[in-house]
Amino acid sequence: MTFKILAVGDVVGKVGLAHLQETLHKQKQALGADLCIVNGENASEIKGICRADAETLLFAGADIITLGNHAYSAPDTGAFLDARPDVIIRPANFPATNPGYGYTIANANGTRVLCINLLGTVNLAPLDNPFLTLERILDAQKGKYDIAVLDMHAEATSEKYAIARAFDGKISVIFGTHTHVPTADLQILPGGTGYITDLGMTGPEGGIIGAKTEPVLRMLRDHMPARFSVADGRVRARAALFCVDTDTGRTTSAKQLVF
Ligand SMILES: [Fe+2]
Repeated sequence: MTFKILAVGDVVGKVGLAHLQETLHKQKQALGADLCIVNGENASEIKGICRADAETLLFAGADIITLGNHAYSAPDTGAFLDARPDVIIRPANFPATNPGYGYTIANANGTRVLCINLLGTVNLAPLDNPFLTLERILDAQKGKYDIAVLDMHAEATSEKYAIARAFDGKISVIFGTHTHVPTADLQILPGGTGYITDLGMTGPEGGIIGAKTEPVLRMLRDHMPARFSVADGRVRARAALFCVDTDTGRTTSAKQLVF
């Protein structure tokens, strides 16, 4: 059987949320997506996702929300992570004592999908080793899932590629998030893992990767403190659709989407 996974890149601000409210259900239906995973870690005005915004995103059509380095930036996210571990996960390599869980098993149309979220450690927080964390999760969940999917939220292209190569054939789909710019390397690796380094973002095209230009320049050009806010401009969603053969666990086709 072919199982279709729609992965949607980092939702930026209310405008990104509103865009998915308008478009996501229609896209899922048109594509025949069985499961939709959305990275929501910038949904609440760039930093984190509060409970209300997470609920909006789920209502808009996300089946699973993944997070990243801003997982705990909104004050009530921790409680929601603990309350709904079936629909929202945070990177698995945060301390185990933190709220929430790093993976969940979704049952979609009779297929058990192990969804995992990890945070890269290159140029980001010094969390647990993502390679070893992933190995531990796959070992512990062996036999409990049919296919596995990973959102590798990371800064470094090399780290995302390294994870993909290390787990090629063990995870059906690995997609990268965090850098907000879609990469042109969507591919199926030799072992059958569908892979893209970064999906890109769901946010406004003005500004700098979703944020208003002036505060970013103040930080990067002037080295002065700055408060970021969501940019203006046309809002688009960047995503990828992966078709997975549930008998072999291999991705058979994949395509990038803009809507
Ligand atoms: Fe991020």
